[in-house]
Amino acid sequence: MVSVTFADLLKFSQIDYLHPCGFSISRRSLELIGVDAHRYFLDVGSGKGATAIYAASEFGTMTLGVEKDPFLVKLARKTSIDKNMLKMAEFRFQDFTDTNFQDGLFDGALLENVLSTTAKWEIMLTETLRVTKRGNVVLHDYFVEDALAPKDLAVLKQVLGVKTLLTLKDLKKLLSAHKKNNLVIEDWSGVDNFKKIIEQRNASRLIDIFDFKQKLLLVAKFLITNPFIIFKIKKSMQTIETYLATGKLKYYLVKVA
Ligand SMILES: C[S@@+](CC[C@H](N)C(=O)[O-])C[C@H]1O[C@@H](n2cnc3c(N)ncnc32)[C@H](O)[C@@H]1O
Repeated sequence: MVSVTFADLLKFSQIDYLHPCGFSISRRSLELIGVDAHRYFLDVGSGKGATAIYAASEFGTMTLGVEKDPFLVKLARKTSIDKNMLKMAEFRFQDFTDTNFQDGLFDGALLENVLSTTAKWEIMLTETLRVTKRGNVVLHDYFVEDALAPKDLAVLKQVLGVKTLLTLKDLKKLLSAHKKNNLVIEDWSGVDNFKKIIEQRNASRLIDIFDFKQKLLLVAKFLITNPFIIFKIKKSMQTIETYLATGKLKYYLVKVA
């Protein structure tokens, strides 16, 4: 039986933002980066393209989304075409651990819930810093406290569908090696922030970020590989809620400068 993670559910739902805290945290990230019409902005691991397209349409900034999942690149390009934004918000199918962008090509870059999805987070972050002027980078992602037990880490990785769960200490160590010690850190943890993945409806439980129609579609999508999908989804969401409520699972936004 194939396990279905939170990352899978977001990917195959009709929700545009594949990260906790949804549009609210994307808007805040763009504000901290300082996107505007004179800048060239990079969205690393751009997913369905929602943030890149918003940056282009709202601030008139030229935007490049780099994404290694062809399904998501196709979706992002379609949305960009539908919104008549393809000249401003371009999407490239590419693995960001292997790029040949010149140093400092971009004025600002964003990593939205990307580092946790890869075991190569150090390469991804180093590469992002290299191609961005003055290291103007914002990232937001799942974090855990230093003392988390291996069992908790394993459960969290499984339900979230991530490969890495950083501590702030890990992140600061890498950034410090690049002489980046001037950080702004915002705490977006907690169930209420997490549920901002959707803005339109007020979901009382985490599972209700998917409305009835979406739940049906998700169940149909995963029914063959996982006949007990509905119970699994419910249990996974409850697990995530518990870890958020106890503060063992954190969500931080970090601005590097
Ligand atoms: C959780 S999703 C977040 C997507 C988008 N940033 C968002 O917040 O909606 C993480 C994304 O990072 C992409 N990604 C992970 N490693 C990558 C790499 N080496 N190169 C390009 N994209 C990558 C994944 O394919 C996935 O779409």
